Amino acid sequence: MTDLRSILVTGGAGFIGANFVRHVLDHTDASVVVLDKLTYAGDRRTLEGLSPTRCRLVVGDIADATTVDEQVSGCDAVVHFAAESHNDNSLADPSPFVQTNVIGTFQLLEAVRRHGVRFHHVSTDEVYGDLELDDPSRFTESTPYRPSSPYSATKAGSDHLVRAWTRSFGVQATISNCSNNYGPYQHVEKFIPRQITNVIDGVRPRLYGAGANVRDWIHVDDHNAAVLQILTRGRIGQTYLIGADGEKNNREVVEMILDVMGQPRDAYDLVTDRAGHDLRYAIDATTLRTELGWTPRYQDFRAGLAATIDWYRTNEAWWRPQKAATERKYAAAGERPLSGEGAR
Ligand code: NAD
Ligand code: DAU
Repeated sequence: MTDLRSILVTGGAGFIGANFVRHVLDHTDASVVVLDKLTYAGDRRTLEGLSPTRCRLVVGDIADATTVDEQVSGCDAVVHFAAESHNDNSLADPSPFVQTNVIGTFQLLEAVRRHGVRFHHVSTDEVYGDLELDDPSRFTESTPYRPSSPYSATKAGSDHLVRAWTRSFGVQATISNCSNNYGPYQHVEKFIPRQITNVIDGVRPRLYGAGANVRDWIHVDDHNAAVLQILTRGRIGQTYLIGADGEKNNREVVEMILDVMGQPRDAYDLVTDRAGHDLRYAIDATTLRTELGWTPRYQDFRAGLAATIDWYRTNEAWWRPQKAATERKYAAAGERPLSGEGAR
C-alpha cells in the first residue's frame, strides 16, 4: 500500500468529502488538509470534533492558482471532491459549474504536475448520459461519454482534462465515476434529504414527473471505502466505476421513506419535471470488485435509509439553517404540483 502521510482533500466540507475525511482518519495514519471554498454546500460544522492535529481546514477556491499551488506543494496526494454538484442548480445558472468543475480541476492538475503529486479525481456516472428504463445494460468503463446537463457536461470535461494530463504530462492520476450517494451530511437540496426533511416538517415529498426515473443508490461510506482503495492500490491511468447494485425508481424511494417514517406510502405530490431529466443510471462495478476486491458493506437499502432518516431526525440543527432557502430556490425555479393534494 502506498505510504501517504498527508492528503489534500478538496471539497472536504461537503457531503462526500467530509465523510471521506472521517474515513481516512478512522482507517489510516494520514493527516488531512481540507481545501474548501465553503459555498452554500460547504459547512465547517461538518468537520467539528475531528482531531485538530490530523485535520485542518483551509478556506479557499480551487480555481485560484496561488492557493492551489501552496496547498498542493505540501501534500503526498490530492483527492479531488470539490465541485458544484447539483443538476437543478446547473440548469438555473451553469456559470459556477464551468468555473469550479472545469477551471478548478485544471488548476489542480497544473499544480500536481508541477509538484509530482498523486491525484485522484472523484467523478460521476452522469458523464455517460442515461439508459432507457427497459434497457438491461449498465455503464462500464468503456461506455461513451454523453452528458445531458450542464453539471454532467462540466464533470465530463474535467474527466477529459485528467486523462489528457495523465497521457501528455505523466500526471499520476486515477478517476472514479460513482452513482447516487446517500447518507449523513447530504445537503437538503438533494432528493433523499429533501424528502426526509419535508416529512419531518409535515410537507408532502415531491417527485419530479411521474417518479419513474431510476438511480443506482450507494451508501457514502461504501463510495469512500472504494476511493481510498483506488488511491492506495489503484492502477495509474485507470478509471474505476463505483456502484453497489442499488437500482430503484424515485417513487419506490419516496414510498420507502414515507413507510419508514410512519406515513401513508402514497402521501406525495408529483411536481414539474426537471428539464432534460436523465431516465436511468446503472453501474457495472466489475473492475473495482475484481481488481481491488472492493465490496459494499451496505447491502440492505432500507436499513441504510432508516439509519439516514434517524441521522436527519437527530441532527436537525445541522440542516435546519439551509432548509427554507433551499425550498425558496425550488419555488423560484417554477416547481409546482401536478397531481396529489398540493395540486388540488
Ligand atoms: P457537495 O455539493 O455536497 O460538496 C461540494 C463541496 O465542494 C462543498 O463543500 C463546497 O463548498 C466545495 N466547493 C465548491 N466549489 C468550490 C471551489 N471553487 N473551491 C473549493 N471548494 C469548493 O457535493 P458532493 O455531493 O459531496 O459531491 C462531491 C463530489 O462527488 C463532486 O465532485 C461530485 O461530482 C461527485 N459525485 C457526487 C455524487 C453524489 O451522489 N452526491 C455521486 C458521484 C460523484
Ligand atoms: O449519479 C450521480 C449524481 O447523483 C451526482 O453526480 C450528483 O452530484 C448528485 O446530485 C446526483 O444527481 P441526481 O440529479 O441524480 O440527484 P438528485 O438528488 O438531484 O435527484 C435524484 C433523483 O430524484 C433524480 O431523478 C431527480 C429526482 N428528484 C430530485 C429532487 C431534488 C425528485 O423527484 N424530487 C426532488 O425533489
